[in-house]
Amino acid sequence: MPPSPRQTLESRIADGTAVVGVLALGYVGLPLVRAFWSAGLRCLGFDTDPAKVEALNRGENYLKHLGGDFAVQMAASPRFEATTDLERLAEADAIVVCVPTPLGPHHEPDLSFVRQTARDIGRRLRPGQLVVLESTTYPGTTRDVMLPALLAAAREQAPQTRPPQPVLGEDLLVAYSPEREDPGRPGSSTQTIPKLVGGLDEASGAAAVALYRHAIAQVIPVSSAEVAEAAKILENVYRAVNIALVNELKVILTRMDIDVWEVIDAAATKPFGFQAFYPGPGLGGHCIPIDPFYLTWKARELGETTQFIELAGQVNTKMPAWVVQRTMLALNQRGKAVNGSRVLVLGLAYKPDVGDVRESPSFELIGQLQTLGAEVDFHDPHTPVVPPTRKYKQLEGKRSVPLDPETLRGYDAVVIATHHTSYDWPLIVSHAPLVVDTRGVTRTVTGDKAHVVMA
Ligand SMILES: NC(=O)c1ccc[n+]([C@@H]2O[C@H](COP(=O)([O-])OP(=O)(O)OC[C@H]3O[C@@H](n4cnc5c(N)ncnc54)[C@H](O)[C@@H]3O)[C@@H](O)[C@H]2O)c1
Repeated sequence: MPPSPRQTLESRIADGTAVVGVLALGYVGLPLVRAFWSAGLRCLGFDTDPAKVEALNRGENYLKHLGGDFAVQMAASPRFEATTDLERLAEADAIVVCVPTPLGPHHEPDLSFVRQTARDIGRRLRPGQLVVLESTTYPGTTRDVMLPALLAAAREQAPQTRPPQPVLGEDLLVAYSPEREDPGRPGSSTQTIPKLVGGLDEASGAAAVALYRHAIAQVIPVSSAEVAEAAKILENVYRAVNIALVNELKVILTRMDIDVWEVIDAAATKPFGFQAFYPGPGLGGHCIPIDPFYLTWKARELGETTQFIELAGQVNTKMPAWVVQRTMLALNQRGKAVNGSRVLVLGLAYKPDVGDVRESPSFELIGQLQTLGAEVDFHDPHTPVVPPTRKYKQLEGKRSVPLDPETLRGYDAVVIATHHTSYDWPLIVSHAPLVVDTRGVTRTVTGDKAHVVMA
C-alpha cells in the first residue's frame, strides 16, 4: 500500500526533506525562517510586501537587530527563496503562519490577517500538509477560526483539482505554536527559546513537534492547541499586570520621595518569590499592550470579565500623561511654561536597542507635549525617521536630531523615554538643562543632579 498523505509528511519531516513555508516575514517570521534554513531545511518565505521579498532575495536583512550576514548566505543558497507568489504554497509540506494580529478600533481582535491567510492556504491545499499558526491570539482561534477557513477555502478549489474533503490528522495537520521572540534581548534567539507546540489532534501535534525539533533546541509538546494559545496569553498578561504594578508603585513612591528603582533592586535580593519588573513611560510594542485584550474580548463572549487585564491597561495607558505632568511641573519650577518650551525626547522605540516603534509610548509623550504647545524633537539611533503610524500622522517623516552637547544645551527639557545602550548618560546629564528620567538610568551618574527629575 502506498504511504498515506500523513505518512509521507511524517517521513519528509523525519528525514529533513520537508519544505517549510513561512508566511509573513516580519519580526517573528524572518528569524523563524532563518532558524529552519540554518537547520538545513529547504525554505520558502512568503510575504505580501514585495519590498521585503526583493530585499531578502538580494541578500539584504531589513531587521538590523538580527545582525550577521545571514541574509546574504540565504539569498545565495539554493535552499531559500522569498516570494509573493502564493501559488507556491502548494510546494510547502509545512506552512508556518506569522501574520499580524492587531486590535480593531474598539479593542476587538482583528483576525482578518489570519482568516485571509487561511483562505490563501486553503485554496491551494493539497493532501499531507501541516499548517501551524504562530500569531498571538485568544484560545480557540486555531480550531474555531483557522481550521474552518482552511476547509471552506479548500472546498472552493476548482472541481478538477479539488481534493476530497480533507480529514484532520490525515490529509491536513494543524497546530499552534506561540512565538516567544523578544527582539533585541541579548543571549536569546529563536533557536534557544523553548517552544510550546499543541496540535488540533495528536497526529498534528506530533508532526509539528517533529518539525520544530529540527530548528529549536527545546520543543515542549502540550496537550492541545488551546493550551499553547492560552499559555502565550498568560505570559503576556503576566508581564502587563506586573509592569502596571511597578508603574503604579512608581507614582506613589515618587510622591513619597522614595526611589522606586532602588526599592525594586532591594526587593530583588530575595532569592525566591519575587521577580523584578521595571517601570517606564508606558507600554509599547506589538504584544503586551495588545494580546491581553484578545482574552478580554473572548471572556466577554463568555459573560466573564478580565479585571486584572483591564486595570493593568488603565494604569499603563496613564503613564505618558504622568510623565508629561512631571515634565510640566519641573519646567514650572524653573519658571517656564510647557507652551513654547523646547523638549527633546530620547528614544522612539518602545524598548532599548531595537528600531521597533509600534505602539511606543514615546509617540504619546510627544503628542501630549505638542498638544500643550511644546516644540518637540526626538533622537533615536535606530529610527532616524518616524515611519507611518495609524495615530500620529503629524509625526510621520520627522527626523531624529543629532545628540551632542550643543544640541542638548538647546532644549529646555530632555525626556529619557528609551534606554538605548548607546546613550552616554553622563554626557546627557552634564549638558541638558533639565532631565526627565523615566527609566532610572541616571541613578548611576555621579556629580550634580539637581536638574534631574525621575518620572
Ligand atoms: N514582534 C514580536 O516580538 C512578537 C513576539 C511574539 C509574538 N508576536 C506575534 O507574531 C505575530 C506577527 O508579529 P510580527 O511582529 O512578526 O509582525 P510584523 O508586523 O513584523 O510582520 C508582519 C508581516 O506580515 C506581512 N503580511 C501581512 N499580511 C500578510 C498576508 N496576508 N500574507 C503574507 N504576509 C502578510 C507583512 O508584510 C509583514 O512583513 C503577531 O501575532 C504578534 O502578536 C510578535
